[in-house]
Amino acid sequence: MLPSVTATRYVLPLREGGSLPGLVEADDLGTYVVKWRAAGQGVPVLAAEVVCGELARALSLPVPALVTVDVAPELAVGEPDQEVQELLRHSAGVNLGMDYLPGALDFSAGSTEVDAELAGRVLWFDALVGNVDRSWRNPNMLFWHGRLQLIDHGAALTFHHHWPGAPAAVARPYDAAQHALIESHPDVAGADAALGGRVTRPVLERVLALVPEAWLRGPDPDEPADAVRERYVAQLLGRLEARDAWLPALVRAAAEGSANRPPAPRGQNRPGWLGPPPPPGVQQR
Ligand SMILES: Nc1ncnc2c1ncn2[C@@H]1O[C@H](COP(=O)(O)OP(=O)(O)O)[C@@H](O)[C@H]1O
Ligand SMILES: [Mg+2]
Repeated sequence: MLPSVTATRYVLPLREGGSLPGLVEADDLGTYVVKWRAAGQGVPVLAAEVVCGELARALSLPVPALVTVDVAPELAVGEPDQEVQELLRHSAGVNLGMDYLPGALDFSAGSTEVDAELAGRVLWFDALVGNVDRSWRNPNMLFWHGRLQLIDHGAALTFHHHWPGAPAAVARPYDAAQHALIESHPDVAGADAALGGRVTRPVLERVLALVPEAWLRGPDPDEPADAVRERYVAQLLGRLEARDAWLPALVRAAAEGSANRPPAPRGQNRPGWLGPPPPPGVQQR
């Protein structure tokens, strides 16, 4: 199970994204970005956050800590914004929280650069989980303490919005043309060699076990939670095994994307006042 906290104060809505996540204080004195169970696309989005966030973590990709956040109906009391008030009221119960990273900078393609190894791993991971929401327009990546952090995986695993279409999603090509890291010389082949063997059935089963039962929706509403968990595990293992269908095109797309821009050696054009180059994994241009 994910650690569980209880919301003690609603602070404010984060309006950048579409889903109106909220900043919330909790009884462990932590502050979290909360995805509401009553938000537009429903609880599968919360399942996607857990499955992708924890799978990424299992692959040593940086993701802020995830928790479940218990919300009482009274949390909405005193909230002046009608839309927020409704959302909170309908979200009483278990919601998803991500550790809030104070002072984190939004990733901005072109001004911050990620090294080829990390870029390749993020791109490979996004292709595996079918994340359609890591574009240069909407990168869903933060920099915090000099390190890249992946956030917002709600728009991945889209097969779970329509299970009958899931088999067709197994071998679907991944459109990387708009990916935020496509020009970062992503080493996709290296990522595949390093990560392919780490996405195993036991790892996926451990990840799925972290998803609260109430967020698991199979094609049949009465399907037991463990059977739905097994659907995700089988789907992701199938996707992994079908790499012949999507990996070569991804490697090509990465090579083409990078051809648009020459490599930027670390530290080049770095103003003196910025101090020594940042730690490995992060480059600033
Ligand atoms: N853990 C976090 N720490 C700091 N800021 C965050 C965090 N999570 C999200 N944000 C900020 O809130 C915005 C919206 O969050 P996001 O998870 O992308 O939600 P949406 O589904 O609405 O796009 C992000 O673009 C980012 O600026
Ligand atoms: Mg977002």
